[in-house]
Amino acid sequence: MIYLDNSASTFIKPKEVIKAVNESLINYTANPGRSGHNASIKTALKIENVREKLASHFNAESSENIIFTYNCTTALNEVIIGCCKEGGHVICTENEHNSVLRPLEFLKNKGLIDYSIAFQNDDKGIELNDIKPLVKNNTYMIICNHISNVNGAKANIYEIGKFCKQKNIIFLVDGAQSCGHERIDIKKLNIDFLTIAGHKGFYAPQSIGAIVMGNTFRPRPILFGGTGTNSLELIQPQIYPERLESGTISTPLILGLGAGVEFVEQNFNNIKDKLDDLTTYLNFELSKLNIKSYTNPNNSNGVLSFNIKDIHSNEIANLLNEKYGICVRGGYHCAPIKHKALGTLEQGTVRVSISYFNTFSEIQRLINVLRHINKSFQ
Ligand code: ALA
Repeated sequence: MIYLDNSASTFIKPKEVIKAVNESLINYTANPGRSGHNASIKTALKIENVREKLASHFNAESSENIIFTYNCTTALNEVIIGCCKEGGHVICTENEHNSVLRPLEFLKNKGLIDYSIAFQNDDKGIELNDIKPLVKNNTYMIICNHISNVNGAKANIYEIGKFCKQKNIIFLVDGAQSCGHERIDIKKLNIDFLTIAGHKGFYAPQSIGAIVMGNTFRPRPILFGGTGTNSLELIQPQIYPERLESGTISTPLILGLGAGVEFVEQNFNNIKDKLDDLTTYLNFELSKLNIKSYTNPNNSNGVLSFNIKDIHSNEIANLLNEKYGICVRGGYHCAPIKHKALGTLEQGTVRVSISYFNTFSEIQRLINVLRHINKSFQ
């Protein structure tokens, strides 16, 4: 099997991640932060260590700026709903995933907010000029997907962040597809909230995400319950991260994420180079085959979409899977506006997504297979 669906979930996990998860199931099974005994404290300290790692990786102020969530979707929901300003206006982009679009639509349908969608003028990615004309007096938040999960389009978050800072607008960046291979310093980029998906670029298990918070804005909780603190009070504690972390958090997944962050830090340049080389090679070879690529050659970050003639993307994806053992994702990738912008609402796209563990020969094999398929549909 050749696995090229790493934007859905990275398939191969580093041995360090597997070891950390296994060890946690043996040594760190007490509830972190609920009891005062040694086993609980030992586990809580390991969790704290991962918070510190994430804070340092993204240059957040302290470990208290890291909120663990079930996944990137819950992280985005927490910020979007938790920061909702009645009567306000939000801007997002054509690259957003349904985990942004659906909460926005929900808030809009409740009559609480209105939102606008910025479209790219350049197929490389969203620029500040695509967003600026949409800003209104009541715009309180700009949400920007960093790297598109459909075609790797990359937003200029530096310029957008600077603008948000000047205008005192909350800047939320969806880093699901960029964390792990893009350097993100939330202070330099003026990011108020960055949301991450552990199981993608950090090679962690599924169902662990996080919000990395700046120092200016704080969302209200959207989930309520036990935090292990202020237990006699019926209202949610005021302090973070507890305020947003009701219920027992998952030690195995968090320790797996911690090992993934360490793995990424140790291999950062090699990871970036690998994604760059393989995406560039694939895009170039597709152009030679006259296969329509939807990925700008400058966006060589591991995510590439293409179509063969007018054949539905799911047909090609199924053929690659069934006949050649190659796993890719066809369809719409939970990003309907992006497909509208690309003109692929009928066909969807065949998405290839690459990880550090893919090889040159796997991409070569894919290209050979695509050459064959392309010919067979002449
Ligand atoms: N959002 C994930 C993807 O792009 C699941 O496939």
